[in-house]
Amino acid sequence: MKKDTPIDFNVVESEIRETGLEKVGRGTIREIVRLVNRIEKATGKKYIRMEMGVPGLEPARVGIDAEIKALESGVASKYPMIEGIAPLKKEASRFVKNFLNIDVDPEGCLSTVGSMQASFAAFITANRRDAGKDTTLLIDPCFPVHKQQLKVLGQKFEAFDVYNHRGEKLYDKLESYLKKGNISSILYSNPNNPSWICFTEKELEIIGELANKYDVVVLEDLAYFCMDFRRDLSKPGEPPYQSTVANFTDNYILFISSSKSFSYAGQRSALMVISDHLFGRRFPDLKRYYSTDGFGYSMVYGTLYALSAGTSHSPQYGLTAMLKAANDGDLDFVKIVREYGERAAIMKKLFTENGFKIVYDKDEDKPLADGFYFTISYPGFEGVDLLEKLLYYGISAISLDITGSERTEGLRACVSQIRREQFADLEYRLKKFREHHPFE
Ligand SMILES: Cc1ncc(COP(=O)(O)O)c(C=O)c1O
Repeated sequence: MKKDTPIDFNVVESEIRETGLEKVGRGTIREIVRLVNRIEKATGKKYIRMEMGVPGLEPARVGIDAEIKALESGVASKYPMIEGIAPLKKEASRFVKNFLNIDVDPEGCLSTVGSMQASFAAFITANRRDAGKDTTLLIDPCFPVHKQQLKVLGQKFEAFDVYNHRGEKLYDKLESYLKKGNISSILYSNPNNPSWICFTEKELEIIGELANKYDVVVLEDLAYFCMDFRRDLSKPGEPPYQSTVANFTDNYILFISSSKSFSYAGQRSALMVISDHLFGRRFPDLKRYYSTDGFGYSMVYGTLYALSAGTSHSPQYGLTAMLKAANDGDLDFVKIVREYGERAAIMKKLFTENGFKIVYDKDEDKPLADGFYFTISYPGFEGVDLLEKLLYYGISAISLDITGSERTEGLRACVSQIRREQFADLEYRLKKFREHHPFE
């Protein structure tokens, strides 16, 4: 390897060695974060940091003000209701009507500690409703923490990479799992972390139809709510709407995070939205764990109670205020986060002009949207090796290998922390990389 790399070769090499990891390219997000922090400190050079999906924008003022007001009015001393404060439930129900065009009673719109708690609680409850169904099917690539949650819970899961099963092909692939009879729930994120694929209406219809046929609960993770920027999803109550499986089945739970769409990650305030139908359903097998067979009741007074007895009070007021402003047309949250899409378009161009390829590049026949993440590869490299090599050039990412993707040549790049002033640096570093790794 050439040693005139943009970041001091010897420092990078010794810091990589210091991690003790057999293959640094296989490191978790947090391990890469730690390593790059150390190299930045040792060299005084800033990286193009694409490893972690943290919001890179300011939260809406209306949320912060509402939290301050709530704290000053004394909520800190009071236990919140487990299911969430009434105004949040009301605005959440309005929000899903306005931006998804679905009707859900406020009762089924629950407050959770981030969407991480929503998925954890959903796994616990949904996967215990039928003794014969104990397995979650994950449509990969996926957010690795979901698999970690299932492992921590000791629950079974199966997974497949959707890359070769888009469109009509998804039907047979999904059914090959569901017909075995052991699948209780299906989880995917849409738009997808890490690949940024978005399921088409046809694909969502397939998922919904099969969920009905095999009585499976669909766990739809909308962590990047309304962030498919190919269509204008910003107008409350007007089409087009964020796509959702809720149009095709009543067996659904939606996770709506405020972390990215509202840049509110620090306050851990999210929503779990359970369809009216599922909320009211009765499953005798729930009685093995809960005092009742009611699904919604078990979720709230069984699972959420046991996990954290509700969500911190003031962030619920913050989220309520932001949802209300969005519902009333006073806060265009989509316009704010569109910045990520614009950054992605420029960054993808810089990568592809310098020999890189976009790995997940299509939704059926449509080019992929530009958004929070994109995926890259470079001829002749496996992803884990590419990640390690790029560290010498001041560029960090994570390997697709750790996301269940079969595209092991790929890396996930997150645009959120990259400022436009860094684009010139990125271009210079990519050019150097290409010069040192010619392939034509
Ligand atoms: C797909 C996906 N789901 C869930 C989360 C976590 O969301 P929250 O911060 O609301 O817990 C993330 C965060 O990166 C994510 O990418």
